[in-house]
Amino acid sequence: MNKGNKLYEGKAKIIYETKDKNLVIQHFKDDATAFNNLKKAKVEGKGVLNNRISEYILSNLSQCGVKTHLVKRLNMREQLIKKAEIFPIEFIVRNVSTGSLTKRLGIPEGTILEKPLLEYCFKNDELNDPLISKEHILTFGWATEKELNLIDKSTLRINDILTGMFRAINIKLIDFKIEYGKVWNKDTEKKEIVLADEISPDTCRLWDVKTEKKLDKDRFRKDLGNIIQAYQEVARRFGIMPEETNISEVNFGKTIPIKFKKK
Ligand code: TMP
Repeated sequence: MNKGNKLYEGKAKIIYETKDKNLVIQHFKDDATAFNNLKKAKVEGKGVLNNRISEYILSNLSQCGVKTHLVKRLNMREQLIKKAEIFPIEFIVRNVSTGSLTKRLGIPEGTILEKPLLEYCFKNDELNDPLISKEHILTFGWATEKELNLIDKSTLRINDILTGMFRAINIKLIDFKIEYGKVWNKDTEKKEIVLADEISPDTCRLWDVKTEKKLDKDRFRKDLGNIIQAYQEVARRFGIMPEETNISEVNFGKTIPIKFKKK
């Protein structure tokens, strides 16, 4: 699939057009940002890992019946995806209190929530992606009530599936952010809602079950070091790193060259 013009460049990804107006290419960069671009760095290999991890997670979700934008991974940094009209909303699910929930409401760090907490943020960098309510979404027409009901249900189902997937590799899914969009379905000749963007250690909080070691972007946000090693650890536990790569607790500090198993 040949890459056409750049359509959009975000903080961590670039979208290119293709010859097919319904398909675009999603390119994963190595750029890491936090606190709405206040903190920036290049983390070598991050894009490659997020591309592979996100492909793996979205494929698994798809096998569970969740509709996603992913068509296929093209290479180390790129995926072919369906072109989607993205809802301007970040859907956040929290299972354990940390991050902005702890900061905003003083809920102690690590508090296990009785049931998953669903939050919405308005996707707007200038305004710092503010927290919004369902009423804001409906009042300003960012999604209809029917769309929102469908997305909420899907988001909680995704939380259940992801929690199990991560628990199986001894990782607690603390919280995550997802996005949805509308794509054209050729068969039904209607638009349908699909899961879009990415799911990776950039967009989740992942703690090792035993040690509570952070295996996600908090290593960058909080200057904890070993960012790429943490992302590699997630890939290794999912079994999507080559056999010879063995990042154990012992060699956690070393950088290991990134290679992937052939499909
Ligand atoms: P928060 O505690 O900072 O609000 O983050 C909640 C979850 O959403 C966490 O898993 C990180 C993720 N997230 C993003 O993916 N992108 C963002 O811009 C923000 C603020 C959070």
